[in-house]
Amino acid sequence: MSDTAEMEKTNDLKLDDSLLDKIRVYWNEHIHDLELAKHPIGTLGFFEDLDEYRFDKLRYLPKVVDFSAYKDKTILEVGCGIGIDLIRFAKKGAKVTGIDLAEQSIDLAGKYFEQSKIDGEFKLGNGEALEFEDNSFDVVYAHGVIQYTANAQKMVDELYRVVKPGGEVIMMVYNRRSWLNFLSKTLGVELEHEDAPVLKKYTIPEFKALLTKFSEVKIVPERFPVKSRLQKGLKAIFFNAFFVPAFNLLPKTVTRNTGWHIMAFAKK
Ligand SMILES: C[S@@+](CC[C@H](N)C(=O)[O-])C[C@H]1O[C@@H](n2cnc3c(N)ncnc32)[C@H](O)[C@@H]1O
Repeated sequence: MSDTAEMEKTNDLKLDDSLLDKIRVYWNEHIHDLELAKHPIGTLGFFEDLDEYRFDKLRYLPKVVDFSAYKDKTILEVGCGIGIDLIRFAKKGAKVTGIDLAEQSIDLAGKYFEQSKIDGEFKLGNGEALEFEDNSFDVVYAHGVIQYTANAQKMVDELYRVVKPGGEVIMMVYNRRSWLNFLSKTLGVELEHEDAPVLKKYTIPEFKALLTKFSEVKIVPERFPVKSRLQKGLKAIFFNAFFVPAFNLLPKTVTRNTGWHIMAFAKK
C-alpha cells in the first residue's frame, strides 16, 4: 500500500455495546448508495459514480459547506463512509482523518484516497468514544451519522470534546417534519436505510437540544426534492414528473423548514 492513505486495517474494534455492534454489522453490509454505481466496487470509476450521484442529489451541499475553505486545517470526519465528502476537503488542502464503525467503509475510503493520490488517514472507530485527545481538530464533520448511532448525545459530546475551542462542528440529521418524511408516509414508500438498527428523525428543536454545549449554533434546513434515480414505477413517475416541479415552485420562505436535512454549524 502506498503511504498516501494510511489505514489502520485491524479487526479489533472493541464494542461492548451490542446495539453498536449491530450498527457496525449493518453498515458493513450496506454501503450508502452502493446500488447506484455502474463501475466495479473499489475502482476509481466506482467512486466517481458515487460522487456524481451524491452531489446531484445533495446539490445544496457545496453551497452550504465550502470544501475549499479549509486549506491546512485539520478535519476529522466521523462516520466518513467511503470518503466522498472528505476527499473534497482534502483535495483543497485540508489535513483529513476519517473514522467509521464499518471496516468496509474504511477499506474503501482508503482505496479512494490512494487511487486519487490524495493524503488522508483512516481508522476504524466509534464516534461515541473517540480515540483522540480533547481539542485535537480545527473542524469535525458528521454528515448523516448522528441519526444512525446508538446514543446520539454521546456522539455529539465527543464531537464537541475533540474540536478545538473556537473550532466548528458540522453535522446533518434527518428532519421528521419534512416533505420527504411526509411523502414517504403518505405514499407508503420506505426511505433508504429504514431497516438500519437505529434511524432517528429529529425536529429542529430536538436537534438543537443535543447541541446546548456549543457557544453558537446555526441551523440550516436543506435538501429539497430533486428527481429520484433510485425509485422505479408509477410512484417514481408521479414523484419525478409532478411532485418535484410543483414543490419547487413554492416559495422557499414557505418550505424552508421542511428540508429533509437539518444541517448544524456549531462553534465550540
Ligand atoms: C448513511 S452513512 C453516511 C456516510 C457518510 N457520512 C455520507 O454522508 O455518505 C452512515 C455512516 O455512519 C457510520 N456510523 C454509524 N454509527 C457510527 C458510530 N457510532 N461511529 C462511527 N461511525 C458510525 C456508519 O458505519 C456509516 O458509514
